[in-house]
Amino acid sequence: MKVLVIGSGAREHAAAWKFSTSRRISGLYVAPGNAGTEEIATNLDIDVMNNSAVIEAVKNYGIDFVFIGPEVPLANGLADSLRTASINCFGPGGEAAQLESSKAFSKAFMKRNSIPTADYEEFSNKEEYTKYIKNLAKKVVVKKSGLAAGKGVLESDDKDEMLAFGLDALTDDKVVVEEFLEGFEVSIFVLSDGKNYKILQPCTDHKKAYDNDKGPNTGGMGAITPVPWVDADLMKRIEEETVIPTIEGLNRDNLNYKGVIYIGLMISQNGPKVLEYNVRFGDPEAQIIFPTIDSDFCNLMDAITNQNLDSYNIQLSDKSAVCITIAAEGYPGAYKKDLKASIEKLDPATGYIFHASTYNRGGDVYTSGGRCFTVVSTGNNTLEACENSYKIVDKVKFEGSWYRNDIARKFFK
Ligand code: AMP
Ligand code: GLY
Repeated sequence: MKVLVIGSGAREHAAAWKFSTSRRISGLYVAPGNAGTEEIATNLDIDVMNNSAVIEAVKNYGIDFVFIGPEVPLANGLADSLRTASINCFGPGGEAAQLESSKAFSKAFMKRNSIPTADYEEFSNKEEYTKYIKNLAKKVVVKKSGLAAGKGVLESDDKDEMLAFGLDALTDDKVVVEEFLEGFEVSIFVLSDGKNYKILQPCTDHKKAYDNDKGPNTGGMGAITPVPWVDADLMKRIEEETVIPTIEGLNRDNLNYKGVIYIGLMISQNGPKVLEYNVRFGDPEAQIIFPTIDSDFCNLMDAITNQNLDSYNIQLSDKSAVCITIAAEGYPGAYKKDLKASIEKLDPATGYIFHASTYNRGGDVYTSGGRCFTVVSTGNNTLEACENSYKIVDKVKFEGSWYRNDIARKFFK
């Protein structure tokens, strides 16, 4: 099987690595990829927002299957274009991708399908929004409706800040104001073949930039899987109250969803509530999920393509995994790029280093983004996986590089 992975982050490096472990792989490509994917696959310099260019590359290289990593090409209808050209791929079409690309769409989907979520009001008018915020007497969060790369949510009690954020967003987008939910967060990844589903190991991300959950929101500074406090009873409740109605809603709308649905949940006193849907794997969650799937990835992708996930016996590892994001100085604000990284060779038995935004120049690795690497390790439980990850985290360094020191550890004070 010749596979093309679309994207350039650590999630896509992890996906390419997982495909590379399959005995069925006869060709592996990543577009556009990074310095890490280049070590295990062929990077293709194509514009992944140009669906015709992707199809042309698939035909030129005789590619059999396309794994679409990020949300932006999905929202741009890449999966629809590929399927129209009879090319199999992982990822939903543009209509279903609105579950992530439009909060207004996803909130309406949840309401229609009685899926528990925060109460909300939707705004497209600056005057109505201003009046609502000025009269507000409860704690809320303000969300941009469209894609915002993890920067579309404001949690604040300061009305001036809420007005500035919302009015700016309303210039070219809708705004959703939600009831503030308290509890703990869990991310659930559900594979769907358009009819059947399989739930993968739950994860918890660390979204805030700094230790003790201080600082601004980021794309994710580290994650754990599974989540020790999500027991079988809670998983059953999550499945019955959120997963099943989501799958039934997608099927009722004939969306033929072939890919993963990432359900971001707040486990509140009143049970699980959906904070958001994403239509792709999480980053950094994918970097710990893929190493804890034992099944052959090509076979798993075939089960989704052939719509027989129900009879496919997916093998999940009994290991725990923890990952740590290594970021550039200044991230999630302005950061320096083009910094030369030193990467010590890792004993493969001790973990993985996945590149996020890097490039190769003359055999050296340079950074090109804010989140630059993800370091991953496994263990017999979360604590062991955590300590194993911190043992290898200093194998990657560049000027100003930093990471959180309390990933997973914060739960075990
Ligand atoms: P979202 O992009 O909607 O997942 O929001 C990003 C982050 O903001 C979530 O992971 C939560 O930490 C926080 N958040 C979003 N919605 C709410 C809410 N209704 N109540 C409390 N926190 C929220
Ligand atoms: N780690 C959060 C996300 O991928 O959206």
